[in-house]
Amino acid sequence: MVKICGIGAGYVGGPTMAVIALKCPSIEVTVVDISHSRISAWNSDHLPIYEPGLQEVVQQCRGKNLFFSTDVGKHVSDADIIFVAVNTPTKSRGLGAGKAADLTYWESAARVIAETSKSNKIIIEKSTVPVRTAEAIERILTHNSNGVSFQILSNPEFLSEGTAIEDLLNPDRVLIGGRQTPEGQKAVQALKSIYAQWVPEDKIVTTNLWSSELSKLADNAFLAQRISSINAMSALCEATGAEVSEVSHALSKNSKIGSRFLNSSVGFGGSCFQKDILNLVYIAESNGLTEVANYWKQVIQMNDYQKDRFVKRVVSSMFNTISGKKIAVLGFAFKKDTSDTRKTPAIDVCKGLMRDDASLSIYDPKVSEDQILRDLAMDSVECDHPVHLQPVISPSTMKQVRIVQDAYEATKDAHGICVLTEWDEFKTLDYQRIFFSMQKPAFVFDGRNILNAGKLREIGFIVYSIGKPLDPWLRP
Ligand code: NAI
Repeated sequence: MVKICGIGAGYVGGPTMAVIALKCPSIEVTVVDISHSRISAWNSDHLPIYEPGLQEVVQQCRGKNLFFSTDVGKHVSDADIIFVAVNTPTKSRGLGAGKAADLTYWESAARVIAETSKSNKIIIEKSTVPVRTAEAIERILTHNSNGVSFQILSNPEFLSEGTAIEDLLNPDRVLIGGRQTPEGQKAVQALKSIYAQWVPEDKIVTTNLWSSELSKLADNAFLAQRISSINAMSALCEATGAEVSEVSHALSKNSKIGSRFLNSSVGFGGSCFQKDILNLVYIAESNGLTEVANYWKQVIQMNDYQKDRFVKRVVSSMFNTISGKKIAVLGFAFKKDTSDTRKTPAIDVCKGLMRDDASLSIYDPKVSEDQILRDLAMDSVECDHPVHLQPVISPSTMKQVRIVQDAYEATKDAHGICVLTEWDEFKTLDYQRIFFSMQKPAFVFDGRNILNAGKLREIGFIVYSIGKPLDPWLRP
């Protein structure tokens, strides 16, 4: 039986390994992690992450050909193929701080592989890494191995949180990069044969190692760029009376542009977009390509501007002061159908509102109270290392923020509502009931453009929807 070990039981490692186990019953898959709490959660009925369909896949395979363990050395040593899906956050200190990828976790995984391997292995980069990381990893492995040979492949993951299982079962494509040597190509074929169990062959794209590594960074940069582009248009729409949803609809009908990633919002979030663009910027700068670096930097600056603009809109609409006012925050996850809050725009928006002394009442259907309080207590770099940090939550944060269990409780007696995640349940709330329970005038700031602004106005709300013509009340 072929044995696979997945290092890193996070948002990528967990679902990816579970789907391989599901689709390849003849392969034994063990997912290992240094975090005991994560592994015990994977072995329980309360998985450490929320993803539609994940629980069912894990329940079907766990204990048969899917296992979760903290014994990294043993399972690495036993495996023929090792997927490395550890976190690669932005470096928080030293050379390249704030931009370069922090490969500490990757390097320590590589060292365990080198130290414990007694047989030849294929090592697969699942984590998103800077281009030419495979070369550095190869060096660590070959300089520390005892005559064992390693073939490194790049196999970046393109799943999106919230649809991870669906994306893994029906990927647009699977990308595999390998060395152009006979051994490298043999390893590429071995990995290809695993995916071929359920992915049509024409969707499995093979490239050289560096193209594969760079394609993942480019992929995220292109997607984020579309969001920043439409968000830039949203500011222009508000200034001119154009409507951003009409503009995106018109754009989407151009087959050269297409319809995806054209929704204007309070900004993109998630663990990947910002860190991968920063990484790209750093690589461009390191290669002396200043113009390239500046081009991609602007995508992040536009995203920061969008969040900032939203906070300013809330404050200016509410008579330039939100001090002591209760503001209901609906949604904290960086998007719907996930419990992940890494780099969620809600963090920056909430912190912005807190700086103006608002009192926040936050509700999210899937994010725990503890997670929200930790996110609001951490600085933005620390947020990239969530599993390992336990920040101290200050008494002032505790005083300004309440986490509640439903939207009606969050909005009761509030002066305003900020919708920060596009959870479906927010579309069907009883807004008449909410209006009656709020202070007047009652404001809604729809950061995801999911609410029917016309109906809300009929009820009596003053409504701000990103990129839409402004309510007379909000016009300068
Ligand atoms: P994560 O933080 O959820 O999971 C990483 C896990 O690796 C953690 O549980 C951590 O404890 C573990 N780990 C770190 N060092 C280890 C070591 N030496 N040995 C064993 N376990 C170790 O991260 P996530 O979101 O799964 O991302 C992993 C990689 O995949 C990153 O490079 C990310 O950029 C990339 N990626 C993430 C996507 C996402 O949607 N989250 C999508 C595509 C790629």
